[in-house]
Amino acid sequence: MRDIPGAADLTAIALTGLRKRFAAGGTVALDDVSLEVRAGEIFGIVGRSGAGKSTLIRTVNLLERPDAGGISVLGQDMLALDDAGLRAARRGIGMVFQHFNLHTRRTVAENVAFPLEIAGLSRAERRARVDEILPLVGLEGKRDAWPAQLSGGQKQRVGIARALASRPGILLCDEATSALDPETTQEILALIRGLRDRLDLTVLLITHELGVVKAICERVAVMEAGRISEQGRVFDVFTQPEQATTRHFVSEVVGHSVPAATIARLPEPGPGEVRQLAQVIFAGPNSTRAVVSEASRDFGIDINIVSGRIDEIAGEPFGVMALAAYGPEEKVRAAFDWMRGLGLTVQELSA
Ligand SMILES: Nc1ncnc2c1ncn2[C@@H]1O[C@H](COP(=O)(O)OP(=O)(O)O)[C@@H](O)[C@H]1O
Ligand SMILES: [Mg+2]
Repeated sequence: MRDIPGAADLTAIALTGLRKRFAAGGTVALDDVSLEVRAGEIFGIVGRSGAGKSTLIRTVNLLERPDAGGISVLGQDMLALDDAGLRAARRGIGMVFQHFNLHTRRTVAENVAFPLEIAGLSRAERRARVDEILPLVGLEGKRDAWPAQLSGGQKQRVGIARALASRPGILLCDEATSALDPETTQEILALIRGLRDRLDLTVLLITHELGVVKAICERVAVMEAGRISEQGRVFDVFTQPEQATTRHFVSEVVGHSVPAATIARLPEPGPGEVRQLAQVIFAGPNSTRAVVSEASRDFGIDINIVSGRIDEIAGEPFGVMALAAYGPEEKVRAAFDWMRGLGLTVQELSA
């Protein structure tokens, strides 16, 4: 750790060895989960439904108490706090929900002011805070509107404003864009990133959508069945996943499916040969090698390029190709293993 206050490598949230089971003999929702979120970053936790993501994010502000493990937020041991200490700590942690959770009988301004009312701020202070925050989320003209008069994206802007009303340093987002259409999702993600920059927030978000992680997160943890299977920089986890299950999961977003009609037009393998389709992600130092022609020549096989494209994560480019390799089974397999040895991510596809 550098000794510069505010440096990006300070830890904002440290979770260690968290365990949680909701009922004796029931499924384990958290199974020895540890992770660190650095101050100022946008950290994503991604996984399928039921993986334990909501349970995990709710331990950060102790909406969920773990059976075991440690929770430190901005250097404070959350499990050691008394009720008053916990209430104060929670004011430093804003939370945004998938279904907005707005009071339908309160106006936009009243919804945003609600946590401030609970915290005991005066009417004048609440008003000043609401006036300060609504423009930040693009709702300056909506202070007296009712939730029912708002679009989904506007409702989530209210949810974000409410989460930020007590000027927290940390923002937790539980599937904040999962109820929104793709375009509105991108708007809300851009808003969250902009707020992070302007307000020096640390953002921990959970989502089942890899596209969300790809769009705004700097680091990511992949969660499966209560455990973190893999974590690191988004670019690394997406382009060079270490676990087979992560590979499968990320291939859904960085990869692309090859249309059945395209596969139908591919030549059949000759006698004694196989045809193996594979998706290859080119990233890292070997990504510019002439991998296809080298493999074809050195292993004596034919490789058809079925499709290909260039994509990027946070401005870092990577290539994705679907290949069809033809030849004796062991040579085809050896060629793909050689590519893996170069650090490329190869996922065999069935066809
Ligand atoms: N309040 C609860 N009571 C009992 N089981 C729960 C409760 N909340 C979550 N679970 C269970 O814990 C597991 C993880 O759930 P959850 O954290 O909501 O996953 P995710 O957010 O990844 O979809 C699931 O098996 C779920 O059924
Ligand atoms: Mg959830």
